[in-house]
Amino acid sequence: MKVARLTLSDRASAGIYEDRSGPEIERVIGGADFGEVEWRRVVMPDERADLEVLLRQLADEEKFDLILTTGGTGPSPRDITPEATRAVLERELPGFGEIMRVHSFAKVPTAILSRATAGTRGTALIVNLPGNPKAIGECLPLLLPAIREAIKHLHE
Ligand code: MTE
Repeated sequence: MKVARLTLSDRASAGIYEDRSGPEIERVIGGADFGEVEWRRVVMPDERADLEVLLRQLADEEKFDLILTTGGTGPSPRDITPEATRAVLERELPGFGEIMRVHSFAKVPTAILSRATAGTRGTALIVNLPGNPKAIGECLPLLLPAIREAIKHLHE
């Protein structure tokens, strides 16, 4: 399986702080019995046009099965991940974002500030995750059964 993890963060990409979210994605997926995973690891600034180009390339040309983004889902002016994602999606799967917000809200009321979404482009499943590494540890495990099933359906 080909999995890309894309960290959207102006500060992490500038080396101002360390990216802990990308490695957290890898830890969760690595423990999830997906078989052998070929990883693409990217840390990039919050630039909508660049993200759209990369998502199209990974889905269309490189045939990645799963593209997980982290960060840039909030309400700040530089947060553009959901817009870039929606621009390239062929079909949206809104349940991924909905369940993360509902699940996290019980513990963290600010969880509803995440505009994360998901969907498909060709045979690729694209899922936005919030930028907080703790949020990834709490949310990504919940999504694994649906991720597995979606990938199966996309290759039918
Ligand atoms: N979800 C969980 N589980 N834990 C969190 O700490 N932070 C929230 C939200 N979702 C958070 C969370 C906050 S404060 C914001 S602004 C949004 O995610 C968006 O974060 P992002 O822009 O880093 O994606």
